[in-house]
Amino acid sequence: MKFNISKICCIGAGYVGGPTMAVIANKCPHINFNVVDINQERIDKWNSDELSELPIFEPGLPEIIKETRGKNLHFSTNVDEEISKADMIFISVNTPTKKKGKGAGQASDLKWIEASARRISKHAKSNAIIVEKSTLPVKTAQTIKEILGVPDRNESNKKFYVLSNPEFLAEGTAIKDLENPDRVLIGGEDESPISALVEIYLHWVNPEKIITTNLWSSELSKLIANAFLAQRISSINSISALCETTGADINEVALAIGADKRIGKYFLNAGPGFGGSCFKKDILNLIYICNHYGLSEVSSYWQKVIDINNWQMERISNLIVEKLFGTIAGKKIGILGFSFKENTNDTRESPAIKICKDLIEEGANLHIFDPKVELKQISKDLGLDNSFSEAAYSEDGQWYYSESVIEAANDADALVIVTNWDIFKNLDWQEISKVMRKPSCVFDTRSVVNKVELRKYGIKVWSLGIGV
Ligand code: UDX
Ligand code: ADP
Repeated sequence: MKFNISKICCIGAGYVGGPTMAVIANKCPHINFNVVDINQERIDKWNSDELSELPIFEPGLPEIIKETRGKNLHFSTNVDEEISKADMIFISVNTPTKKKGKGAGQASDLKWIEASARRISKHAKSNAIIVEKSTLPVKTAQTIKEILGVPDRNESNKKFYVLSNPEFLAEGTAIKDLENPDRVLIGGEDESPISALVEIYLHWVNPEKIITTNLWSSELSKLIANAFLAQRISSINSISALCETTGADINEVALAIGADKRIGKYFLNAGPGFGGSCFKKDILNLIYICNHYGLSEVSSYWQKVIDINNWQMERISNLIVEKLFGTIAGKKIGILGFSFKENTNDTRESPAIKICKDLIEEGANLHIFDPKVELKQISKDLGLDNSFSEAAYSEDGQWYYSESVIEAANDADALVIVTNWDIFKNLDWQEISKVMRKPSCVFDTRSVVNKVELRKYGIKVWSLGIGV
């Protein structure tokens, strides 16, 4: 069967669905794209006239939205209607870790996937191609296929084809990653629907970068790519602690080992621990699958990657308390950066959450500044309102929202750099040193500051993987 793809629907207008469809729409002006979501507020933001009000912050995204929105890219809450018109349907809904029931804390919660599959089964036209885009545990396609009645026809006598096409974009560089991917992976069982999706990517991706596999290899590869990347970060983070105690410098070690082509220089930046919506969730999924198949040695191996990550965050907050003379109760500490990495407003699994919670628990008054994360998101993540006035400073532990670095630094005993936003690389430390309480301390978890310069202004510096 030959497919003619002229209408594509994407279910889920989040960090994956939104940018992915925007880039494909930009590359394929002859196809009409409808991104649908059940969240009206999110859709309103995607349709906002002010491009600075898009629901996600991603460099290069506003420009692409400007070019495509209202032409061949549309955002709406008309989920069923757009499903019914589409030749191809991408599923890009959220798949967080299950909070309760069987597999709680490890397995992915597939209720949003299931809900989407049920809607597709009811409303989509026969012969529609269904593409899994969300990061999913292996064999999810099987669940989708069962709900859709593949390979047989479903209750309404419709036929569907299911493909896996995992997205490898990283937040903050999503547009660049989508426009110039290292590879595009497409898993499926039938030749023709695979070719239909390959043809779409061929509009801008070199054919040799398009890998086609069976469904399960495709699903598993996405999980394993993330597990390997996360493992690299835990490896370098474990060595950062060793460097601090031995006098080695983690950046020099990373440079030296990364020069070996077999190791490679990327993804070797020690930091406060990996965050984001994928790494932890995917490793937990991997652990769950391994345990399910009785591979307990394999699951314990991957569990260590998560253990080291948690330990890294914990050891940073412990160290801050220790360096500030054993107590931070009632002290003001400025937190620079709250998103899980630079160039995104996403805070999912951000190390800043754990570090801030620990410091608040110790009684600190935190002043949090992030260039893109909003106050209400921080409130939600910390599970704590910030409706205190400065006059109410106490030793109970609380937090305030800062509009600038200098505001966060004013009268603070310490500043903690948690996210490597570019602006933290060029701060006016002379000015900052004047407003901080003495002795002033900077905890640099991302190796962004020039230690010599800070010391010149009388600021003590502790750098992750270097120490002092
Ligand atoms: C990741 C994968 O990179 C991407 O391919 C997949 O599609 C989704 O998951 P993302 O989570 O958006 O992307 O960002 P990434 O750049 O991988 O960073 C993840 C975390 O690791 C961040 O908290 C980041 O600060 C941290 N990190 C990354 C380090 O601590 N050191 C590094 O060298 C790289
Ligand atoms: P990701 O990072 O994977 O894109 P997000 O949480 O940012 O995850 O986005 C997922 C989106 O999917 C959310 O906006 C959510 O409202 C949407 N969603 C979840 N279930 C459905 C559904 N059944 N139909 C339409 N949209 C859905």
